[in-house]
Amino acid sequence: MTTTPPAPGATPDAIPGATPGPLAAPGWVEELAARADAALPDYVSGYFHSAAGDGTCAREGVADWDAFRLRPRVLHDTSEVTTATTLLGTAVSSPLVVAPMAQQVAARPEGEVLTARAAAARGHLLGLSTNTGARFADVAAEGAPWWYQVYVCRDRSVTARLVERAAAAGARALLLTVDTTSLAVEGPRLDPSNWVESPRKNRTANLTPAEVEAAGPDGLAMALDLTPDVIGWLAEESGLPVLAKGVLTARDARRCVDAGADGVVVSTHGGRRLGPSVTSAHALPEVLAEVGAEVEVHVDSGVRAGHHAVAALALGARAVHVGRPVMWGLAADGADGVGAVLDQLQAELVTCLRQTGFAHQRDLTPADVVRRA
Ligand SMILES: Cc1cc2nc3c(=O)[nH]c(=O)nc-3n(C[C@H](O)[C@H](O)[C@H](O)COP(=O)(O)O)c2cc1C
Repeated sequence: MTTTPPAPGATPDAIPGATPGPLAAPGWVEELAARADAALPDYVSGYFHSAAGDGTCAREGVADWDAFRLRPRVLHDTSEVTTATTLLGTAVSSPLVVAPMAQQVAARPEGEVLTARAAAARGHLLGLSTNTGARFADVAAEGAPWWYQVYVCRDRSVTARLVERAAAAGARALLLTVDTTSLAVEGPRLDPSNWVESPRKNRTANLTPAEVEAAGPDGLAMALDLTPDVIGWLAEESGLPVLAKGVLTARDARRCVDAGADGVVVSTHGGRRLGPSVTSAHALPEVLAEVGAEVEVHVDSGVRAGHHAVAALALGARAVHVGRPVMWGLAADGADGVGAVLDQLQAELVTCLRQTGFAHQRDLTPADVVRRA
């Protein structure tokens, strides 16, 4: 995405690519969440908001991005700002990626198909959860580049089939989620497996009824005995690059890369994994220092503004994934709502890059950002 400067005579603050949309007022994320909540049953909105423990990590996840300050530079040509880049070789218009999220069919019956439609129209990449209620072919038909998120099932043959099908349908990489050893949702009502009201809610949309029956509930359950060799196995089964999602320490990043991971996503699962966990903003520098020269390092959890993304990119992240705001946009306004969220964050990203003195995120360096004392 490339933007040009204001036309002569335009007000100096009217920066193209930053055209205030319906979401532009401060606090737009909270307002959008409130609109989504009003449109959803309590148990669904509760699940979308839910965080581990008392919510410490979810809260601090946002606060830690807010704590960064940028060091703007001057006398650099920012007449054209572009955010176009590649992510594991796939061309995208922006380093902003839609994070894989389960239960999108509970936000809107078409779920990820609408999310993919909005992403495709703007050139963003999206992740597709194992717990999707949408069919791979329907998501792929929207034309956005997508990565398949993998929860390894106890019956590995189920996962083998799913990753092969995802690859055949056009997934360009696998996001192997390595951080979910227990559900963060508190209480049976928030657990999607108890949602009799929401059809097609789980991981069976891309399996045949016979396959579901043969695997049984135990076989479909998440494997909790994963070790790094699963990375090589998935790469072999799918023929796709594999990113490990949910890494928060240098030592685990090293284990993943040594096991063949093509990338790492620094993530707290949006504060849903462990209440008193370190945040992604805190963990990102040590992961970059360990493996940033070898593989792509992405980050998510708590990113709510363009300047959060710029801080992450300056530290060295290749891409920034966004979760809940997209889900809230989907619930509130369908594909248009997802599009409005992506447009808003993209506009903020472009504005912030220009205000910081950069025509492209690739020129940012860790020296361009400091953590406020
Ligand atoms: C409702 C919801 C469902 C999610 N489902 C999944 C999932 O199925 N697989 C996964 O790897 N991550 C899942 N995540 C985590 C996201 O991929 C991402 O890491 C997180 O939402 C980013 O944090 P943010 O919501 O603060 O932007 C989910 C997050 C939410 C909010």
